[in-house]
Amino acid sequence: MTRTEIINTLIRSKHYRSYLEIGVGDGANFNGVIAPDKTGVDPDPVTPATIRANSDRFFAENGRGFDLIFIDGLHEREQVTRDIDNSLKYLRVGGTIILHDCNPPDEKVQLMPKPNDTSPWTGDVWKAIAGLRMHRPNLSVYVIDTDWGCGVVSPGSQRLFPSHPIESLTYKFLEIHRQSLLNLVSPDVWYSIVRSSTVV
Ligand SMILES: C[S@@+](CC[C@H](N)C(=O)[O-])C[C@H]1O[C@@H](n2cnc3c(N)ncnc32)[C@H](O)[C@@H]1O
Repeated sequence: MTRTEIINTLIRSKHYRSYLEIGVGDGANFNGVIAPDKTGVDPDPVTPATIRANSDRFFAENGRGFDLIFIDGLHEREQVTRDIDNSLKYLRVGGTIILHDCNPPDEKVQLMPKPNDTSPWTGDVWKAIAGLRMHRPNLSVYVIDTDWGCGVVSPGSQRLFPSHPIESLTYKFLEIHRQSLLNLVSPDVWYSIVRSSTVV
């Protein structure tokens, strides 16, 4: 299951209309999203973004809400955490936030800073998810185990993962606690969640 299939499944099943993508890249996902009202934010002028700005500037000037927000911009924990907090301010009632690159399959792919090569890079987005899992009881947070890990965040509730200091969030820590830290769900389980609208 791809990120685009997840996004379009939510749009169909929840009748979402407005969609925001932070970090559009070459449009591989953005162009395939079926929402009738799409906003894409990216500072890179060669992308098909509808707004040329970084996410901080976009949110500082934004005045409208969105049903579905896909965060896939700068893959650094602090920026992603800020993007999540800003997205929560503009998420419409019943809305959902999806985050890409939450489940790195090996240590190299999540190294900070980004290695100077063209190999895939998730950055440390997983640490932003870990922060939500440890400290935000009023959110529902889980990660679909597909397409580099697609995080799903919405207002709700969750049983928190025990709090740990940021320094302890090593790749070894992720390997040991991956399932419960990320609250991983399989694509099949996710489909049944969407069908029944059950909070995980
Ligand atoms: C991995 S690509 C996005 C891929 C796209 N979302 C997809 O699924 O096909 C990351 C994009 O984020 C953009 N970006 C980097 N920093 C950003 C920021 N602070 N705010 C918004 N976009 C950012 C980059 O210019 C790049 O085009």
